[in-house]
Amino acid sequence: MFGFLPYGPFNKRGAFAQALIAKCEEIASKPKGISHETAAAAATTGLTAIQSMRDLGRLPASGGQVLVTGASGGVGSISVGVANKLNASVTAVGSGMGLEIARRLGAASVLDRTQADLPGNIHEQFDVVFDAAAAFRWRKWRGTLKTGGAFVTTLPSFAFAVDKAASLFARTRVHFVNVKSRPADLELLAGWLEEGLEVPLATSIPVRDLAKGLAQLQKAGGRISVRVADGF
Ligand SMILES: NC(=O)c1ccc[n+]([C@@H]2O[C@H](COP(=O)([O-])OP(=O)(O)OC[C@H]3O[C@@H](n4cnc5c(N)ncnc54)[C@H](OP(=O)(O)O)[C@@H]3O)[C@@H](O)[C@H]2O)c1
Repeated sequence: MFGFLPYGPFNKRGAFAQALIAKCEEIASKPKGISHETAAAAATTGLTAIQSMRDLGRLPASGGQVLVTGASGGVGSISVGVANKLNASVTAVGSGMGLEIARRLGAASVLDRTQADLPGNIHEQFDVVFDAAAAFRWRKWRGTLKTGGAFVTTLPSFAFAVDKAASLFARTRVHFVNVKSRPADLELLAGWLEEGLEVPLATSIPVRDLAKGLAQLQKAGGRISVRVADGF
C-alpha cells in the first residue's frame, strides 16, 4: 500500500502502529522495486511537491521556472527532483548539505539562504515560488513572480491570510497547500520513483530507536521511516 492518512496543520498529534485502516480511495499500490521505507518517506513529501507546484502553482505543462525553499528539508529536497519531472528549471534555496543535494538532483542554480540577501539577490522571475520551508512571505517575494505566477506555502498563518487578501488585487497569486492522499498523484509519483526519482534525506530506523529518531527529526528534519519487522 502507498499513501498516507489525512494530514493537516490541525492534526499534528499522531501515533505509531503496526496496522492501520485507510480508505481505498486514498491509497495506491506501492511502487515496484522500491523499499517500503523509501516509499513511506516519499508519499507526503512527493505529493506535497506535486500538488503545490503543478496544481496550485499551475506550472505550465511545458515546464517553466520554479524556486523551491527548504532544499535541506524533506519536502524541499524531493521538490527539486519533482520539479525536474514536471519539466521545470529549478532554483533551490537551502543551506549546508541541502545545497549539494539540490545540485546533484539537477537544480539549475542554488542559493545559500545563510549568505544571500533573499529575495533581494534574485533577479529572475518564476512561474512558481514554492516556499516548502514556510519561512517567507508573498508580500516580500511577489516581485520574483511572473504575472499570473504563484507563491505556495506549506503552513497557514495570520500573515498568510493577510497576504491572501492582498493578493486578490494583485497580478500574482498566493496559496496554502493542504496535501491530499490522491491515488492518481500517488501513481504518478510511484512511476517516477520506479524511474529513479531520489528521496533525499530519508533514513530508516528500527522501532527500538524511535526516541532517538524523533529527536533527530526535530533537529535535522528530513524523513525517518520506522521498521517494525526486525522486532521491538
Ligand atoms: N500543508 C501541507 O500539506 C504540508 C505537507 C507537508 C509538510 N508541511 C509542512 O512543510 C514544512 C516543511 O516540511 P519538511 O518536512 O520539509 O520539514 P523539514 O524536513 O524539517 O525541513 C524544513 C526546512 O526549512 C528550512 N528552514 C528552516 N528555517 C528557515 C528559514 N528561516 N529560512 C529558510 N529556510 C528555513 C530548513 O532549512 P535549513 O536546513 O537551511 O535550516 C529545512 O530545510 C513543515 O512546516 C511541515 O509541517 C505541510
